[in-house]
Amino acid sequence: MTAPTTVTETVTADVRAALRKQLTAARLDASELSAMETWLPAGAGVALLREWTEQRVRGVPLSRICGRRGFWRDDFVVTKDVLAPRPESELLVEEALRILGHSDGDGDGDKNGDDDNGGVGDGDDDGRNDSDSDGDKVCEVVEFGTGCGAILLSVLNDNSRARGVGIEKSAAALNVARENGRRLGLESRVRWLKSDWSDVVLKRRGGRLAIANPPYLTTAEWRGAMPEVRDYEPRAALDGGADGLAAYRTLGAAMARALAEGEHALVELTPLRAAETLAALEAAGFGTRRVLRDLGGRARAACLVRGLASAAGGLL
Ligand SMILES: C[S@@+](CC[C@H](N)C(=O)[O-])C[C@H]1O[C@@H](n2cnc3c(N)ncnc32)[C@H](O)[C@@H]1O
Repeated sequence: MTAPTTVTETVTADVRAALRKQLTAARLDASELSAMETWLPAGAGVALLREWTEQRVRGVPLSRICGRRGFWRDDFVVTKDVLAPRPESELLVEEALRILGHSDGDGDGDKNGDDDNGGVGDGDDDGRNDSDSDGDKVCEVVEFGTGCGAILLSVLNDNSRARGVGIEKSAAALNVARENGRRLGLESRVRWLKSDWSDVVLKRRGGRLAIANPPYLTTAEWRGAMPEVRDYEPRAALDGGADGLAAYRTLGAAMARALAEGEHALVELTPLRAAETLAALEAAGFGTRRVLRDLGGRARAACLVRGLASAAGGLL
């Protein structure tokens, strides 16, 4: 029996050029071939690379073919049961690290040069000692609807003082999150809760920060979405009901129960309905502190504060 050849042995420049040509002819980004090569299982031969390219040409998303998606600083396992994390969600990670006020990566975490840490570490209501060994307050980051866990795990990976709770109603998605937590060696700092966020009662362990990227398409938008999205990602991760706001209404109430006055919530939204989304969260007892925008200037997320008397009006 011959030993399996590794892809580096078998992918010649000619093969690579032919596969790139196949991708380009299907109006796909030829650089996806490099991602496929990176994620090929050890020992896989060129046959698998050809098969993956064909699947990609047939419209299967790259993340579903390879079972991986790069996000923030790591690669995450993704399956049919989770949304593949999107680049715009990195805004939530960046803002969370800024609010936590310390990033292991750059020793600062405040990429905006703003030193407002928003009172994380306040609001402890059970009187327990929530300090870690060097005396810093431990902050609990709670993600509502964690999916594959990429957002929460990226925050924990860059802030060693934070602990995490990932809430997710899909058991299959939570298994993926658990696997990602294990791969990153973060199991001891994260609890995974299989629950509807409306039913969760959290025991307080210290200051708390909430994060969420809820389903925000209207049902009509979900029906009209690109097949790569509609046919390959869980509807429960995308469809936000007739007006796209159903998840925000229950989320607002759940986050208001979990957070103390003055604590922060970072919530992703669609630029198509930023004002309505923020109004729904404000109705649940939050004020909008800032709107987070993508490079094109579109509102993609917001930083809200429980009990803050401020409306999004002037920020949008
Ligand atoms: C848009 S996906 C986001 C997943 C992940 N946070 C990310 O950004 O990659 C929304 C996630 O929230 C979960 N979800 C939706 N409604 C929920 C609820 N009421 N309780 C718990 N999880 C919920 C979905 O199953 C899905 O995994």
